[in-house]
Amino acid sequence: MMYNFDKIIDRNGTNAVKTDMLKANFGRPDLIPLWVADMDFETPPFIINALKNRLEHPVLGYTVTSPAYFPSVVKWMKDRHGWDIKQEWLSFVPGVVHGIALILEYFVKKGDKVVIQPPVYHPFRLVPQNTGIEAVYNPLRYNGASESCYEMDFEQLEKVLDDRCKVLLLSNPHNPAGIVWKRESLQRLAEICAKRNVLVVSDEIHSDLTLFGNKHVPYATVSDEARSGSITLHAPSKTFNMAGMNSSFFIIPNDELRVPFYNHLKANEHNSAPFLSVIAAEAAFTCGNEWREQLVEYLEDNVRFVAQFIEREIPKIKTVIPQASFLMWLDCRGLGLRHKELVDFFVNKAGLALNDGEIFGVCGEGRNSGTGFMRLNIGCPRSVLEKALLKLKGAFISSIDSTAQRE
Ligand SMILES: Cc1ncc(COP(=O)(O)O)c(C=O)c1O
Repeated sequence: MMYNFDKIIDRNGTNAVKTDMLKANFGRPDLIPLWVADMDFETPPFIINALKNRLEHPVLGYTVTSPAYFPSVVKWMKDRHGWDIKQEWLSFVPGVVHGIALILEYFVKKGDKVVIQPPVYHPFRLVPQNTGIEAVYNPLRYNGASESCYEMDFEQLEKVLDDRCKVLLLSNPHNPAGIVWKRESLQRLAEICAKRNVLVVSDEIHSDLTLFGNKHVPYATVSDEARSGSITLHAPSKTFNMAGMNSSFFIIPNDELRVPFYNHLKANEHNSAPFLSVIAAEAAFTCGNEWREQLVEYLEDNVRFVAQFIEREIPKIKTVIPQASFLMWLDCRGLGLRHKELVDFFVNKAGLALNDGEIFGVCGEGRNSGTGFMRLNIGCPRSVLEKALLKLKGAFISSIDSTAQRE
C-alpha cells in the first residue's frame, strides 16, 4: 500500500498545539506552523482503525493492558534496533517527559544535580528547574559540519561532574540537530558516567526515524557500564504521529535500578496505561514498519528539498542535515541579525512559526548556544514547505532591498 504524505489536513480547531496555540505563543494566528514536534500527516490508518474498533464496544470501564502490547514492543526493538530486551524490563509511562519527571522525583534527592548538554530539547532543562533541581551544563561543541554538527565535550564533562551530579539526560538521537550519536561517543559517555556513578537517562523517542541510512545505537547496548547505569525512554509517538496518545515506556535492564523503581511506580499507579494508548501503540508496533519506511523516504526528500532551496536562494542560512527525525536546525547567524531581530524576521516578516533556537541553548551564566539558530519542523506536506520557503525567500529579498535603500 502507498501512503499519501502530500495530503493537506486542516488541524485548526482541533486543539492542536501547533495550530491552535499560534496566537498565544507568537502573538498572531496567521503563521505557517512549523514548530511543535509533531507531524501534519494523518496518523496511519491501522492505528485509527484499531482505536475505532475498540470504540465500537459501548463500555469504557477498567481494563488491563493487552497481553500483546509488551511483546509487540520487544519484537519492534529487536527488529528495528537489534536489541534483545526482556519483557520485564519494560514499564508503561504516559509520556517521555512525564517519565523523565518520574525518574528525577525518584532518583534525585534535595541538593543533587542533573546534567544536560545544550543545545538540547528544552524540557531537559525545564523539568529539573521547575521542580527545584539544579541543572548543570555540559554544552555540546559545535564543529560547523553540515551534519553531526555537535560533539559531546568529554573533557569538559569530567570537569563539570561532581558528587552531587546524579543524572545525565541524553537526547539520542539528538533534538534539535538530528544527530545519531556514534557508538564510540556513547561508550565514552558511559565510561565517564560510570566512574562518577551518574545515571544516564537516554531519551530515544526519535530513534525509529533514522534517515539516509544512519543507524540508531541504543545507549544501553554500547557497554556493560551503559547497560547497568541507564534508563531508556522510548515511544511510538513521533514515528507514528500519535503524540496525543501519551504512550511511552521505560526500558531498564539492571534489576537493582529497575525493581525498586517499578515497585514505586506500581504503588503509585504511575504505570497504569490508558487503554486507548496501549491499543494505538500495539497497532503501531505490529503493523507499522511499511508506513515508517515510506515516511522516512518522504522526510528524506523534504530534507533535500529544504537544504537545496536554502542553499540556492538564501545561502546566508546554513542548514544542518538531520540524521534522524523531522527537525532541521538552521544556522541563521550569517543573516547578521540580533537574535530578537531573527525571531521577528521569521514571525513578522516571513509569517512562519519555527521554534526559537534559544530555548534549546541555555548554557548558564547568560550563555546561550542556540543564539542565531532556529528549528524548522519538516514533518508536513512538501507543498507546505514550498510555500513557507517562498515566504522566507520573499522576506530575505525585502530585507536586502531595505538595507540597500538605507545605504
Ligand atoms: C527528545 C524528545 N523527548 C521527548 C519529547 C516529548 O515526548 P512526550 O510527548 O512523550 O512527553 C520530544 C518531543 O518533541 C522530544 O523531541
